[in-house]
Amino acid sequence: MSNTASASRKILVTSALPYANGSIHLGHLLEYIQTDIWVRFQKSRGHECHYVCADDAHGTAIMLRAEQEGISAEALIERVSKEHQADFATFGVAFDNYHSTHSEENRYFSELIYTRLRDRGHIATRDIEQMYDPVKGLFLADRFIKGTCPRCKTRDQYGDNCEACGATYTPAELIDPVSAISGATPEVRSSTHYFFKLPDFADFLKDWTRGGHVQIQIGNKLQEWFESGLNEWDISRDAPYFGFEIPDAPGKYFYVWLDAPIGYLASFKHLCDRIGIDFDSYWKKDSEAEIYHFIGKDIVYFHALFWPAMLHGADFRTPTAVNCHGFVTVNGAKMSKSRGTFIKAATYAEHLNPEYLRYYFAAKLTSRVDDLDLNLEDFAARVNADLVGKVVNIASRCAGFVKKLGDGRLTAHCAEPELLARFIAAGDAIAEDFETREFGRAVRKIMELADEANTYIADKEPWVLAKQEGREREVLEICSVGINLFRQLMVYLAPVVPAMAEQARRFLELSSLDWHSRHEVLLDHAIAKFKPLMTRVERDRIDAMIEASKEDLVEEQKLKEAVKGPLADDPIAEQIAFDDFAKVDLRIARIAKAEYVEGADKLLQLTLDLGGESRNVFAGIRSAYAPEALEGRLTVMVANLAPRKMRFGVSEGMVLAAGNDEGIYLLSPDSGAEPGQRVR
Ligand code: 2FM
Ligand code: ZN
Repeated sequence: MSNTASASRKILVTSALPYANGSIHLGHLLEYIQTDIWVRFQKSRGHECHYVCADDAHGTAIMLRAEQEGISAEALIERVSKEHQADFATFGVAFDNYHSTHSEENRYFSELIYTRLRDRGHIATRDIEQMYDPVKGLFLADRFIKGTCPRCKTRDQYGDNCEACGATYTPAELIDPVSAISGATPEVRSSTHYFFKLPDFADFLKDWTRGGHVQIQIGNKLQEWFESGLNEWDISRDAPYFGFEIPDAPGKYFYVWLDAPIGYLASFKHLCDRIGIDFDSYWKKDSEAEIYHFIGKDIVYFHALFWPAMLHGADFRTPTAVNCHGFVTVNGAKMSKSRGTFIKAATYAEHLNPEYLRYYFAAKLTSRVDDLDLNLEDFAARVNADLVGKVVNIASRCAGFVKKLGDGRLTAHCAEPELLARFIAAGDAIAEDFETREFGRAVRKIMELADEANTYIADKEPWVLAKQEGREREVLEICSVGINLFRQLMVYLAPVVPAMAEQARRFLELSSLDWHSRHEVLLDHAIAKFKPLMTRVERDRIDAMIEASKEDLVEEQKLKEAVKGPLADDPIAEQIAFDDFAKVDLRIARIAKAEYVEGADKLLQLTLDLGGESRNVFAGIRSAYAPEALEGRLTVMVANLAPRKMRFGVSEGMVLAAGNDEGIYLLSPDSGAEPGQRVR
């Protein structure tokens, strides 16, 4: 994979389109920062590279949200788009175009792709039965239906699976189902739906998957999907729906996920019209341009199956690659509103420099699909040690002497040509790492160079020489080397920390820090007065951000209550006799092992140690805990619950946790309790 040295390439890059009804948070930012670094790197290398995105503006959720707020859907998406764009700008995410799926370009391409697919026989229609809310006059997606689990009888469960016991079912099987929107009892109604015949593309997709367009882990996942068989995809929704009406199908709308990826084409078309790029030279079948989609692992099905099939079936070229990343965890656990680790972009930026986060994400990113943990201690330590302690330090140690002894001019002669040549040559391997999205590896190499530069200066001790008569020339030469080394480092770091690089560029009085510019050593070159380029991460700012995130939650809660009325607490259940309670054998358990369960969004599989005896338990706590954060921890379990056979295996008991819509809180004993002890 050595594209890196080739002549100018034409590259189109996208990040996933954020929904137009919620704020950008740190989970989103991983993707936009990853993509933006890659794009900035490509531009730095001199390639023609365009980065486009848009708000994902359609669907029931957005329609209902606007209704709750008492505004039109158009007004909501307009407001949210502005907020999103402000957040992206704050984090240095520099799109070349930001558009909306609710746009004329998107309507055009959605209709074009749909009609081409239809005319080639890839669309089917049939009647399906669905739950219908007679009060709102809406068909209800599974997540808008709640009721009592048919298996374990836990109340208030969503329409497709039970958070308490992990059972999966259809909404029709729920006991006492209600519409989560109006509270009405839903009815079953039939209506005609439109389907995209994905199985028509099975052979094409198998070839495409093997063609190096996805990461290995994703290829394996796709293989599993091929083996279990591809299904036709329901692409229509009945009115009322905020979206585009399907041509020649009155009252039927394109499902939001049909026109969302088409939004990539729409945003790019908008850019083409704005600045005069030839759209077809990117998207026609035999185009030599490269197209990359950066996405999260939760939306692979849409991007690696539906999307290439739709494009292929409608005579467009398919993506060069779909680059998939994992989720962000904070301090080892899933982001949690109640713990203050569900951090919005705007809240972060009120307290901390966005470039810290860009650096930290870059330092931990690989080309793989693994989750990335933002450990806040490590975050502060790493940014302080690397960016402030290593990189900025080089410039701040040397700039003063250049000012004083050289009147702000570097020497005309380079005292360490070999050292500098090595720094320049290192740029090729670092470029390869950026190209292949091994950002962590690139950052490690850059920091090794920074260590070398600091060692060089420390060994030469210019501050000691400066006190000795007649050695000013030597001091100036050492510091001129130091500034040149700093310049090399900033070229390499510029895609990661663009704002810091811009300040460095001004300090160095250079017109550019592009990748190639590094070949020219700065000799007899004037530099500006040094201003500190970055300050240290302060622990109390992190704490303040966490507190503010908890307050964000309180605000949201108030908003919800203003709309829906206070959330009803669980009423106390009917009385039981003491003897009934005494039958429950509660024990202290140590979580010996915790793992994700393939195919279960809500469950973790726990191996519990009861002081000698071991139990396998499936617990619906995945939304609140990362497995690593649980291992070793003590909790309380029901030890004499009859084993239950679940889809994923047999569960031999139950752990105790409090919970509501906002979070799940596993019970823990005070210190001193031992595994196996009875709880009374
Ligand atoms: O999962 C999401 O947040 C979607 N809004 C992503 C859409 S990406 C593309 F297909 F538009
Ligand atoms: Zn259940």
